Amino acid sequence: MSSIFLKSAKIQLKSKTPYFAADSIRCMNRYKISLSIAALFLIIVSAGFDHSLSGPLKDRESLKNGLKLFKVKCAVCHGDKGEGNIGPNLTDNFWIHGPKFEDISKIISIGNVGKGMIGFEGKLTHFEIREVASYVYLLRTTSPPDQKKPEGKEYRPDSH
Ligand code: HEC
Repeated sequence: MSSIFLKSAKIQLKSKTPYFAADSIRCMNRYKISLSIAALFLIIVSAGFDHSLSGPLKDRESLKNGLKLFKVKCAVCHGDKGEGNIGPNLTDNFWIHGPKFEDISKIISIGNVGKGMIGFEGKLTHFEIREVASYVYLLRTTSPPDQKKPEGKEYRPDSH
């Protein structure tokens, strides 16, 4: 009697094995999918904290918007052409916070309130900050009249 029971239990086990396997594969797949979703989420969140958001924009439309934003939000302190006023000259090779695109985006985002530079995070969208930073990045290559005297450290023009 008990051997018959055992046999049937074995058969049952055998026949169930493929289901178990399929189940664990399905479970693994679900695990992998949730891992990928978590990774994707992390990438999106960290992109939100990345001040540069992957480099200067170069298309006409973005630079035009950057110029518009600059005139409205920045020119009062940095001059209409970036030549400097209350804020530093943005067209020379001297930088207080660094010459790289990431440095420029960062100071625009977080500011340096103690020194009179407001942070624009929350006031402009991340994309607008990238647009205006791309415009400032372009201003470095211009040489407007009446430039304010240099402030900060000098960088070689090809170092950024
Ligand atoms: C209320 C005046 C004011 C406004 C408005 C302002 N800035 Fe500034 N900005 C400053 C001052 C002052 C500094 C110097 C801060 C320091 O010494 O750390 C500065 C610094 C900077 C720097 C760093 C320069 C360097 O030498 O490293 C950048 C880039 C910059 N501003 C861009 C902008 C942009 C773009 C806007 C508009 C979206 C803007 N600023 C709006 C006053 C201003």
